[in-house]
Amino acid sequence: HLIIPRLKEVFHDSFRIGAAVNDFTLETREEVLAKHFNSLTAENSMKFVSIQEEEGVFDFSEGNRIVAFAKANDMVVRGHTLVWHNQTPEWVFYTDKDKTTLASKELLLERMTTHIQTVMKHYEDSILCWDVVNEAIEDKEGMRLRESLWYKIMGEDFIDQAFRIAHAANPKAQLFYNDYNESTPEKVEKIYTTVKGMLERGVPVHGIGLQCHWNLNNPSLTDIEQAIEKYASLGVRLHITEMDVSVFDFEDRRTDLLRPTEEQLELQAKRYEAFFKIFRAHSDVIDSVTFWGVDDAYTWLDGFPVPDRKNWPFLLDEKSEPKPAFWRVVNTLEEK
Ligand code: G3I
Repeated sequence: HLIIPRLKEVFHDSFRIGAAVNDFTLETREEVLAKHFNSLTAENSMKFVSIQEEEGVFDFSEGNRIVAFAKANDMVVRGHTLVWHNQTPEWVFYTDKDKTTLASKELLLERMTTHIQTVMKHYEDSILCWDVVNEAIEDKEGMRLRESLWYKIMGEDFIDQAFRIAHAANPKAQLFYNDYNESTPEKVEKIYTTVKGMLERGVPVHGIGLQCHWNLNNPSLTDIEQAIEKYASLGVRLHITEMDVSVFDFEDRRTDLLRPTEEQLELQAKRYEAFFKIFRAHSDVIDSVTFWGVDDAYTWLDGFPVPDRKNWPFLLDEKSEPKPAFWRVVNTLEEK
């Protein structure tokens, strides 16, 4: 029998190993979750729309199940996410049901405050860190911040406000700014500038979340390493928050694969190995590496960006068995 090492033990001295979970994976992947992971993130169930779809009516039931599972299995929980332009109900931004009038700055601040306070207090003793603000930075050239309704109504200050409210609600929680394309040089610059400004203004931000939705060719290893070093130079903690490695480049629109090719699996293994070498080399600032799923049976990439197309982005296959990438990642420890 081949003994399969536990990822969380392999990386015990480097960082926590996390998985994003939903109802399906929580119900069907209990064993593999308990074996390999020591951190959980809710893929959807702690987002604004999941918790407060209707104003003033808070539903913590799905999130509570994740917290209970984490407690029973000695895991920590990352909170995701409090302020985002997506999966936020429309009532938040309007004064009326017909959505004809935008909320005032004061009203939106009040709603932001109520949401953050209620959610953070509810999970005060069970959630270690929060992605307080998610994806507020613009990808396209020119603008630094995304023109979301948070931004349009409250102005650039909405980010500082969210972190200040979060810190007051639970001073023990570690507070993160989380984003994707986090290794693209132009966006790195914008994220860096944003967090630097917050630190200079005394805003309680403790870390940067690097989502790391990557593929077989992008981003380059150099860009990744430079991004990590630039963020680390701010003196904040870094979490890898949503890692997956698509077997398709973004431009690749093929739909005919029923399973990954040997070539894709081999390339994916090489990429994962290189990524984990970089993470390990920076384990003094990286506290946690979370995958945006558990195994290849389910990923949000099934159907994205090409409808009805399966993807295989993780270390474990559809039956939770180790893939070539798993062994290469585990072996980064022995090579050093
Ligand atoms: O819950 C409804 C359900 O009631 C309805 O019947 C069904 C029909 O489409 O939709 C369900 O909602 C879906 C939800 O996932 C729960 O399954 C939404 O349509 C779908 O858009 C949503 O997708 C999520 C996506 O965020 C939304 O932007 C993905 O599962 C989730 O993996 C993804 O996660 C994001 C991170 O939060 C932030 N970073 C990027 C990452 C990947 O996009």
